[in-house]
Amino acid sequence: MIGSAAEWAARSRQAVWHPCTQMKQHERMPLVPIARASGAWLYDYDGRRYLDAIGSWWVNLFGHANPRINAAITSQLGEVEHVMLAGFTHRPVIELSERLAALAPRGLSHAFYGSDGASATEIALKMSFHYWRQRGVAGKDRYARLAGGYHGETIGALSVTDVGLFRDAYGPLLRSHPLLPSPGVHAAFDDPDSQRATDDAISALEQFLAEHAATTAALIVEPLVQGACGMAMYPPRYLAAARTLTRRHRVHLIADEIMTGFGRTGTMFACEQAAMTPDLLCLSKGITGGYLPLSCVLATDDVYAAFYDDDVTRGFLHSHSYTGNALACRAALAVLDIFRHDDVLVVNRAKAQRWKNMAAPLASHPRVRGFRQCGTIIAFDVDDVQEAFAQRFATEALRREIVLRPIGNTVYFMPPYTLTDHEFAFLVERAVDVVDAA
Ligand SMILES: Cc1ncc(COP(=O)(O)O)c(C=O)c1O
Repeated sequence: MIGSAAEWAARSRQAVWHPCTQMKQHERMPLVPIARASGAWLYDYDGRRYLDAIGSWWVNLFGHANPRINAAITSQLGEVEHVMLAGFTHRPVIELSERLAALAPRGLSHAFYGSDGASATEIALKMSFHYWRQRGVAGKDRYARLAGGYHGETIGALSVTDVGLFRDAYGPLLRSHPLLPSPGVHAAFDDPDSQRATDDAISALEQFLAEHAATTAALIVEPLVQGACGMAMYPPRYLAAARTLTRRHRVHLIADEIMTGFGRTGTMFACEQAAMTPDLLCLSKGITGGYLPLSCVLATDDVYAAFYDDDVTRGFLHSHSYTGNALACRAALAVLDIFRHDDVLVVNRAKAQRWKNMAAPLASHPRVRGFRQCGTIIAFDVDDVQEAFAQRFATEALRREIVLRPIGNTVYFMPPYTLTDHEFAFLVERAVDVVDAA
């Protein structure tokens, strides 16, 4: 028998330890049990609906219950659901690897798979460190990272993350890695603050590498948008400079496109906007359109060659049981098919411009600061000095049928690309209401 939303919420509180959550808060703020989802909408057990304006933690690209992705997974179920990827291979993983190599910045032709984003970060960090050892370069055991950077919650990924809320409790467990100034700011690219921050960050990187390249394996960055620290954005010229400088100083560049990949910033991958190829490119989230956990690290021929040897122990002996899961790879192929058949990047470019115009009431709202946009990601900060802004805002938003989870005082939209203009207008109208109320 199907229960009410309140019943499911109570059972969940008892049995499920929810992620990134102080469970006690759910004594006051009810969980939202979702009975079904379709397009941009989530529906609870009492028939209420919510517009998923943040793509379910930045994963959903083409709406919930997308018929084309559903069909691809269903068809794959009849062939092979999963087989271990050591010693075996299968059509979806081969085709996906070939297509990712063709789409990614030139030269990234070797795909190593993980499950969640954090596992891709771990893989990239290990590959980079190991590469230098294999090449006989000793002492490179640090990673340069950017202020405000976020790369996941596992111990290695947290050690290159700079978000105190997630990191501080585990400080004693984390290796200390050099922290560099970030070019990212809560302002549009053309804002003088953004230009200044970019100049300063490039100078700091130049100076750091001149002094510490010998102990640095890689620089890890979130290209163009630093998501988890509050959608801080920066122009492509930082990436171009980082590529030139890291190459000059023999340091890898790891591009964490776990959030920015698959069109979010307006190009398939954010790195394209700086016309550069990183040594390692981390992908996840949108890769399966938000259906199944899958992540991937694309590596250059040079990185791959450093591990190719007669000696087994010189291989990259890293694995996860579900590496290259066939259902997930098939979902990812369906996602790439949609990109191609629907000319999604071109359609999104026009859509991003329309959304910018339609969001004008927010950009000009007297309590809104730092309105910014990169591709279909829109963010702004709300002037509000009272406690627990994010929680109050999220609660008020839910009351108005929209799902928004601010980061600090930053509100952002990262909806599925399939959101219609009519739905976007609804989102803006309700968000203005929430800004007024929260
Ligand atoms: C840039 C970036 N890297 C890594 C991660 C971690 O991914 P996951 O949550 O799938 O482990 C995230 C998640 O938000 C992210 O935004």
